[in-house]
Amino acid sequence: MSVRVLFVTSEAYPLVKTGGLGDVSYALPNALRQQGIDIRLLLPGYKSVLEQLSLIEVYEEIRISPLEHPIRILAGTMPGGICPVYVIEGLSSYESDGGSYQDNKGQDWSDNALRFGVLSKVAALFGQHHLLFKPQIIHCNDWQSGLVPAFLKYTPNPSVRTVMSIHNMAYQGLFGSEMVEKLGLPDESFSMFGLEYHGKMSFLKAGLYYADWITTVSPTYATEIQTLKYGCGLGGLLQTRKKTLTGIINGIDTKAWDPKTDPHLSHHYNTKTLLLKKRNTKNLRKKCKLSPSKSPLIGMITRLTEQKGLDFLLPIIPKIIKSGAQLVILGSGNKEFEKNLKDLALQHPKHLSINIGYNEKLAHQIEAGANIFLMPSKFEPCGLNQMYSMRYGTIPIVRRTGGLADTVVDVSLNNATGFTFENENSKELLASVQDALKKFEDKSFWQTLQNNGMNRDFSWQNSATQYVSLYQRLLTSQRV
Ligand code: ADP
Ligand code: GLC
Repeated sequence: MSVRVLFVTSEAYPLVKTGGLGDVSYALPNALRQQGIDIRLLLPGYKSVLEQLSLIEVYEEIRISPLEHPIRILAGTMPGGICPVYVIEGLSSYESDGGSYQDNKGQDWSDNALRFGVLSKVAALFGQHHLLFKPQIIHCNDWQSGLVPAFLKYTPNPSVRTVMSIHNMAYQGLFGSEMVEKLGLPDESFSMFGLEYHGKMSFLKAGLYYADWITTVSPTYATEIQTLKYGCGLGGLLQTRKKTLTGIINGIDTKAWDPKTDPHLSHHYNTKTLLLKKRNTKNLRKKCKLSPSKSPLIGMITRLTEQKGLDFLLPIIPKIIKSGAQLVILGSGNKEFEKNLKDLALQHPKHLSINIGYNEKLAHQIEAGANIFLMPSKFEPCGLNQMYSMRYGTIPIVRRTGGLADTVVDVSLNNATGFTFENENSKELLASVQDALKKFEDKSFWQTLQNNGMNRDFSWQNSATQYVSLYQRLLTSQRV
């Protein structure tokens, strides 16, 4: 059975990406198409999206409230890929702000409700079979498309089914209650048994409340988000929906992240030619102006947010350096974290390299050049970088949470691939780093860790199969 699916997302690599959602929105649809699913993407028409899409054509012109002017749906194909993409063109804020959710001071765009309300509303039109492509399933991702199931609930539709995937509970899309009417949803939706959340309109809650099925991106996170600690205020709702909530671990794009062929690397390597990794390390040190050294190089690539454990990492960076390691950090986000990191780099110019900004090439070079990769996240729905690291023979140190707990096998276990620690504090993180630095001295042990990680299968195939089963189950079962 070939299932028709519309995958609604606010980012998709290489068109637009701010984090892991962008990676997933590229790789998962491709993997699903390979399994025979007729999946197509719907995205906002950011400038970068319009510029990169091949074979773009006007598909439909539509009018939707509250917009006073018509908008267009364009159709194209993913660059270098096979997946058809629909793009909403004609909303000026999509074109001016390049795909971010915030301005450069870290403030959310004031019209985010409209930007993503429109995205959800157009998706719902597909769901009502008002447009040429008539999906059987609409697969929504994060709060930006959370309103789709709500729109479909209150409009006649030919029983299209909805899946709401949570990539991060911490971002919920909360807006003033006036947006309910403005976006064209009925008053009755603004209820505890609907999309209301402490007097606000919650896009994420709408998705979690009205969708036929909920998924999240790892089994451990699926359990965690039903608790007070990780549920971000929606744990109770998720508990009531636990029979329709599944955790499916993300895969990674094993073509884009392959040390044997990665075009960003000066030297390619595999498990048999691991010595060549050292040349990438040498080049990375040089590029980042770190002093030549035989001690381990620790890498980190991240959005600089609370989520990623920066507040308990920052105070121990001098101690990590004192223990003999060097660090390369690439990231952007919270301005205070950026400033504190830059200040630390001034104090340790030969041992700490801070690279503020978004840099795809450097990200690949860090994965290949670093010996150790840090991900001390407070919570991590899935996390992709730890998987890239294991594939590149770069040993991850992670906190045991969410997808990190599901993908990294601790040194104390068989087939270990990395180091894990339990609690979010500087002491445990430092102990884990020091343990790794010590074990780095044991070359044969280290190589075993590297081999174990590099031999693991992180491809999308297995996860895509689970999504296919879910789609099929939804189409053959009664609505819950
Ligand atoms: P999250 O989605 O929470 O940011 P993930 O680990 O799932 O975390 O995915 C992050 C993705 O974004 C990875 O592909 C990572 O390499 C990339 N990334 C994050 N920050 C940067 C940056 N500053 N430069 C380049 N790539 C980055
Ligand atoms: C989110 C999460 C991250 C996950 C990514 C893709 O941004 O923070 O853990 O890997 O989405 O699902």
